[in-house]
Amino acid sequence: MIVETAKAKLNLALHVRARRADGYHELETLFAFVEHGDIVSATRAEADSFMLAGPFAGVLAGEGGNLVTRAAAEFAREFGHGAHAITLDKRLPVASGIGGGSADAAATLRALGRLHGISVADMFPIAAALGSDVPACLHGVTAIGRGRGERLEPVPGLPGTPVLLVNPGVAVSTAEVFRRWDGVDRGPLPADPRAGRNDLEPPARAIAPVIDDVLDALAGAPGAGLVRMSGSGATCFALFDGEASRDAAAAALAGRGWWTLSTRLT
Ligand code: C5P
Repeated sequence: MIVETAKAKLNLALHVRARRADGYHELETLFAFVEHGDIVSATRAEADSFMLAGPFAGVLAGEGGNLVTRAAAEFAREFGHGAHAITLDKRLPVASGIGGGSADAAATLRALGRLHGISVADMFPIAAALGSDVPACLHGVTAIGRGRGERLEPVPGLPGTPVLLVNPGVAVSTAEVFRRWDGVDRGPLPADPRAGRNDLEPPARAIAPVIDDVLDALAGAPGAGLVRMSGSGATCFALFDGEASRDAAAAALAGRGWWTLSTRLT
């Protein structure tokens, strides 16, 4: 049995530069990952099976289908290697800007790759076909992403930095958030992501105004540094100057009914 963590993905900054003819958007983003995520387990089996568990299993089942089974099917089509029993322990909120399905797909590929001795580099073409964030999640290291997000340039990260993730419980459609982007190119990614932006914040906030409350609450927390929405939202994050200030912020938010995750950058 191979077990892989589908680490949650953060966009420390996300600059949307242009709308493309193929319907996607040209991005410059700084990907980072945290220690926690969904858990994918895979083993060889007589017949393919998929089991869903965990606190967000019901939400995902309601959406019908998921990227784990698609990733496994793509792997089988490309490399063969027979059938697998795969379990997804769904711990992260669905459609929330922190990778979710993309990280699950990437963890599935990593698990099957480990079972059969196939390298991450060899699985890269499948990853890009499964979704824009899947290549970044497959590598799982801090990196600048360009193109749709699939052209990756690893950069030094800030491993161990305490992070608080907060999701107000509103699922936001990535496609709709991109559709509502105003088409204005506000410039390239700066060297320091703190000086950057998430250009998807305004359209996401228009769909889910509660994102403003989350960002305000995090910005007001003692010890919070970079505070931003991740991806197309609605999950927001804050980097903290210590675990005590992060945990105090989480405790202060406990009454709001929001999902929170206290973790660290990897
Ligand atoms: O690639 P993925 O399937 O994860 O993207 C979901 C949706 O998000 C796309 O259908 C597209 O509408 C939007 N998207 C985009 N530009 C990107 C990534 C995603 O417009 N770079």
